[in-house]
This record gives sequence, structure tokens and C-alpha cells, in this order.
Amino acid sequence: MPNLTATAIAHPNIAFIKYWGNRDDALRLPVNGSLSMNLDNLYTRTRVTFNPDLPADSLTINGKAARGPALIRVIEILDLVRQQAGQTGRAAVVSSNNFPIGAGIASSAAAFAALALSASTAAGLELSEQDLSRLARRGSGSACRSIPGGFVEWQMGDSEADSFAFSIAPAAHWPLVDCVAVVSQVHKVTGSSEGHGLAASSPLQNARVGDAPRRLNLCRQAILTKDFAAFAEVVELDCNMMHAVMQTSSPALLYWQPGTLAVMQAVTAWRTAGQTVCYTIDAGPNVHVLCPADAAQQVQSKLAEIAGVEKVLIAGVGGPARLEI
Ligand code: DP6
Repeated sequence: MPNLTATAIAHPNIAFIKYWGNRDDALRLPVNGSLSMNLDNLYTRTRVTFNPDLPADSLTINGKAARGPALIRVIEILDLVRQQAGQTGRAAVVSSNNFPIGAGIASSAAAFAALALSASTAAGLELSEQDLSRLARRGSGSACRSIPGGFVEWQMGDSEADSFAFSIAPAAHWPLVDCVAVVSQVHKVTGSSEGHGLAASSPLQNARVGDAPRRLNLCRQAILTKDFAAFAEVVELDCNMMHAVMQTSSPALLYWQPGTLAVMQAVTAWRTAGQTVCYTIDAGPNVHVLCPADAAQQVQSKLAEIAGVEKVLIAGVGGPARLEI
């Protein structure tokens, strides 16, 4: 008899080489490989309970019942799990986050990684890391990178079966810190899923995608050899290329706020002055400022002084998604 309830914790991740655009929207198969690190003290905790007496699947996020598209997306993952496990019972999904949703910190990544692990375990499946990563990918592409620990690569793959993420180095390999400069906590207007659908309308997307394997190799190498200067160069290039695509798609997407630009310019000036620091930005206005752990305190207090920065969240390199016993 399978264990009918399970709780899992997963960290969000910050991409150094970005995923932007799908070759198959339904299966979330990306047009390029990507690379990220998990964020250690930010997390989503999700409990899934299958119960044959429940009339329908339900979803609670941070104490509030969720309906509509959020619930439908969760039901799609529950259906995949039920199919694989030969289960028919409906599920209660209860989820909470310790970080703001919808502001460029990938809440969907942590959410679907935690859901894949908790739902499959509750249904009695014992999935491999690869299978969990593929399942999480179906909910949100970047979620496949929140299943393995540390520094994680998502290989785009040739098919559904080989599009999953794996760790290229454990969390302890290189103590980097992400100082997230929060310039706005307002929920973003255009979510990533919609944005992926617009990527191909930018005349710059082909150039971004064509050059992605080169950037991915450079970034992987910089991480493996802990070469911060090489890392900074390729991470900022990749971020700027994605935002160039966003800003030139039709309709155009501009995620930046004045505070975003202020932080980008400050980080560039600090690096020119010799500080080991660089920035990257996801589909939102907040800026992820990356630096070695020994520089984090100084970077955090300098960021906090910039006009427009509301607060600075700090996260080191996080481990894999895990079950809570
Ligand atoms: C800019 O994984 O959030 O953060 O698959 O539609 O849920 P969906 O998209 P999502 O896209 C992430 C976009 C990004 C870059 C990245 O994390 O690689």
C-alpha cells in the first residue's frame, strides 16, 4: 500500500545561462540548454495527500485556496503521477514559500520541483533523479533544475526522454552568493510561460539560441575552474542577450524598473573598480547580484544604499529537492 502523503522542500534556482523559448510548449522542451545554481535559504515546502474520498484536487498556496490556471497546471502534474502510479484518488496540495512570488525569483521552479517529489512519493512511486527532473519540467521548465543539487545543467535533449537536468558540481564546490536586490514586489504582468511563446518573434532570438552552446560551455568551464572573471563576463552577456530578445519581441517585454538599471550600473562600476561581482536578471525587475561568499556582506550593504532597492535577500548555493521526514 503506497504512502498516501508526502512533504518535500525545494529551492528556487537562478539561471546563469537562461532558458527562453520552447521548441515544444506542451512538453516544455527548450530551444537551448541552460545552467543555474540552487538558492539555499529560499524554499517552497509542499505536502501532497492522495485521498480516494476527495471530490476534486485542491491547491492551497501560502494559506489561500488557488483556482484557475495555477490549479490546472498542478492538476496536469498530478494526472501524470496518477497515470504512472495507477492511482485514481484526488489530492490535496498545500504549499508555502518563504520568499516573494512573481518578482523574478523563480517561485514556479521551486514549486514544481517540490510538487514532483512530494506527489510522486505520496503516490508510491520511487522516481530516479532524472525522472523527477523530467516530471518537474512538465510543470515549469526551470523546475527541472531545482531537482538536483548545487550547480545544475539542463540539457535540452533530442526528445522528451533526455531533456532533464543534472548536477555539474555540488553546492560545496564554489561558495558563491546571490544577493537579490529587490526593487519591486509587484506581481509581473507577463509571466514566463507567455514570454517563452513570444521569444521567436524577436529577430534576435536565432542569434541568441545559435550562440547558446558556446556560452553554456564557457559558463560550465568557469564554474568548474572557479574563474570568477570568466564567469562574470558570460553570465552578464547571457542575461543581456535574453533581455534584448524580450525587449525586441512582439509585443515587446520590458521587465526592468529604474531601480533595476541603477543596480546594473552600480555592479558594472564596482567590477571595473576591482570587485568580484556580476549581475543577472530573470523575467522580472529584481537583480541577482552574484559574488564570492567572502564579499557578500559588503555587496549587500552597498546594494541596500542604492535608491530604489527595497531590500536585499541573500542566498548561497543550495542542495537538491528533498523529502521532509
Ligand atoms: C527567465 O521556467 O518560469 O527565469 O516553463 O513557462 O514555467 P515555464 O517558464 P520558467 O522560465 C524561466 C525563465 C527565466 C530563465 C531561466 O530560469 O532559465
